Amino acid sequence: MKVIAAAAAVAGCGSSPQTTASPDAPAPPADGPTCDGCLDLSDPTNSALTKVDGSRIVRFAKTNVLVARISETEFIAVSSVCTHAGCAVRFATTQISCPCHGSLFALDGTVTRGPATRPLTRFSATYDAQTNIVTLS
Ligand code: FES
Repeated sequence: MKVIAAAAAVAGCGSSPQTTASPDAPAPPADGPTCDGCLDLSDPTNSALTKVDGSRIVRFAKTNVLVARISETEFIAVSSVCTHAGCAVRFATTQISCPCHGSLFALDGTVTRGPATRPLTRFSATYDAQTNIVTLS
Protein backbone atom coordinates (compact mmCIF):
# COMPACT_ATOMS: atom_id res chain seq x y z
CA MET A 1 0.00 0.00 0.00
CA LYS A 2 2.78 2.44 0.83
CA VAL A 3 4.54 1.69 -2.48
CA ILE A 4 1.47 2.69 -4.52
CA ALA A 5 1.07 5.98 -2.66
CA ALA A 6 4.75 6.84 -3.18
CA ALA A 7 4.53 6.11 -6.92
CA ALA A 8 1.50 8.37 -7.26
CA ALA A 9 3.27 11.17 -5.41
CA VAL A 10 6.31 10.96 -7.70
CA ALA A 11 4.13 10.97 -10.81
CA GLY A 12 2.32 14.04 -9.54
CA CYS A 13 5.54 15.87 -8.80
CA GLY A 14 7.02 14.96 -12.16
CA SER A 15 4.22 16.47 -14.19
CA SER A 16 3.61 19.60 -12.16
CA PRO A 17 6.56 21.79 -13.27
CA GLN A 18 5.82 21.22 -16.95
CA THR A 19 2.26 22.49 -16.75
CA THR A 20 2.42 25.36 -14.29
CA ALA A 21 4.85 28.20 -13.69
CA SER A 22 6.91 28.03 -10.56
CA PRO A 23 5.67 30.45 -7.92
CA ASP A 24 9.30 31.27 -7.22
CA ALA A 25 10.08 32.30 -10.81
CA PRO A 26 10.82 36.02 -11.14
CA ALA A 27 7.93 37.93 -12.65
CA PRO A 28 8.55 40.18 -15.64
CA PRO A 29 8.63 43.87 -14.74
CA ALA A 30 5.09 45.18 -14.46
CA ASP A 31 5.93 48.63 -15.70
CA GLY A 32 8.71 48.15 -18.21
CA PRO A 33 9.29 47.23 -21.79
CA THR A 34 8.00 43.78 -22.74
CA CYS A 35 11.14 43.01 -24.72
CA ASP A 36 14.61 44.43 -24.46
CA GLY A 37 13.75 48.10 -24.79
CA CYS A 38 10.48 47.70 -26.70
CA LEU A 39 7.33 49.63 -25.89
CA ASP A 40 4.33 48.27 -27.78
CA LEU A 41 1.94 51.19 -28.21
CA SER A 42 -0.92 48.73 -28.82
CA ASP A 43 -0.54 47.67 -25.19
CA PRO A 44 -2.93 49.65 -22.94
CA THR A 45 -0.07 50.10 -20.47
CA ASN A 46 1.52 52.44 -23.02
CA SER A 47 -1.65 54.33 -23.93
CA ALA A 48 -0.16 57.62 -22.73
CA LEU A 49 2.30 57.41 -25.61
CA THR A 50 -0.34 57.07 -28.31
CA LYS A 51 -0.92 60.85 -28.37
CA VAL A 52 1.51 63.69 -29.04
CA ASP A 53 2.65 65.24 -25.73
CA GLY A 54 1.93 62.01 -23.88
CA SER A 55 4.59 60.57 -21.62
CA ARG A 56 5.28 57.86 -19.12
CA ILE A 57 8.12 56.50 -17.04
CA VAL A 58 9.40 53.01 -17.71
CA ARG A 59 12.15 50.90 -16.25
CA PHE A 60 14.98 50.42 -18.75
CA ALA A 61 18.75 49.89 -18.48
CA LYS A 62 18.44 49.64 -14.70
CA THR A 63 17.04 53.14 -14.37
CA ASN A 64 13.75 54.98 -14.60
CA VAL A 65 13.36 56.50 -18.04
CA LEU A 66 10.97 59.25 -19.06
CA VAL A 67 9.62 58.49 -22.54
CA ALA A 68 7.59 61.19 -24.30
CA ARG A 69 5.98 61.50 -27.70
CA ILE A 70 6.92 64.85 -29.23
CA SER A 71 5.32 64.35 -32.66
CA GLU A 72 3.42 61.69 -34.57
CA THR A 73 6.69 59.90 -35.31
CA GLU A 74 9.23 61.19 -32.77
CA PHE A 75 9.88 60.18 -29.19
CA ILE A 76 12.43 61.25 -26.62
CA ALA A 77 13.83 59.18 -23.77
CA VAL A 78 15.91 60.50 -20.88
CA SER A 79 16.60 59.41 -17.34
CA SER A 80 13.74 60.56 -15.13
CA VAL A 81 16.09 61.03 -12.17
CA CYS A 82 17.08 64.67 -11.70
CA THR A 83 20.85 65.05 -11.56
CA HIS A 84 20.63 67.64 -8.78
CA ALA A 85 19.21 65.58 -5.91
CA GLY A 86 17.38 62.67 -7.49
CA CYS A 87 13.76 63.81 -7.72
CA ALA A 88 11.57 62.51 -10.54
CA VAL A 89 11.43 64.95 -13.44
CA ARG A 90 8.31 65.66 -15.49
CA PHE A 91 7.68 66.13 -19.18
CA ALA A 92 6.22 69.56 -19.95
CA THR A 93 5.73 69.61 -23.76
CA THR A 94 8.75 71.75 -24.70
CA GLN A 95 11.01 70.96 -21.74
CA ILE A 96 11.52 68.70 -18.77
CA SER A 97 11.10 70.13 -15.31
CA CYS A 98 12.02 69.07 -11.82
CA PRO A 99 9.40 69.92 -9.19
CA CYS A 100 11.83 69.77 -6.26
CA HIS A 101 14.12 72.77 -6.84
CA GLY A 102 13.09 74.05 -10.24
CA SER A 103 15.73 72.72 -12.59
CA LEU A 104 14.78 72.71 -16.25
CA PHE A 105 16.12 70.50 -19.00
CA ALA A 106 15.80 70.61 -22.78
CA LEU A 107 14.21 67.61 -24.45
CA ASP A 108 17.69 66.23 -25.14
CA GLY A 109 18.44 66.26 -21.41
CA THR A 110 20.75 69.28 -21.32
CA VAL A 111 20.38 71.65 -18.37
CA THR A 112 18.70 74.95 -19.23
CA ARG A 113 18.25 76.15 -15.64
CA GLY A 114 19.86 75.01 -12.39
CA PRO A 115 20.49 74.16 -9.70
CA ALA A 116 21.20 70.93 -11.63
CA THR A 117 24.50 71.16 -13.47
CA ARG A 118 24.67 67.78 -15.22
CA PRO A 119 22.41 66.66 -18.08
CA LEU A 120 19.89 63.86 -17.83
CA THR A 121 21.16 60.66 -19.41
CA ARG A 122 19.74 60.44 -22.90
CA PHE A 123 18.54 57.28 -24.60
CA SER A 124 17.64 56.64 -28.21
CA ALA A 125 13.92 56.10 -28.86
CA THR A 126 13.09 54.82 -32.32
CA TYR A 127 9.49 54.46 -33.49
CA ASP A 128 8.39 51.89 -36.06
CA ALA A 129 4.96 52.88 -37.35
CA GLN A 130 4.49 49.49 -39.03
CA THR A 131 4.74 47.58 -35.76
CA ASN A 132 3.64 50.48 -33.52
CA ILE A 133 6.64 49.83 -31.30
CA VAL A 134 9.08 52.30 -29.74
CA THR A 135 12.50 50.79 -29.18
CA LEU A 136 14.77 52.23 -26.52
CA SER A 137 18.53 51.79 -26.72
S1 FES B 1 16.29 67.49 -7.37
FE1 FES B 1 15.79 68.38 -9.25
S2 FES B 1 16.26 70.47 -9.00
FE2 FES B 1 16.79 69.56 -7.12
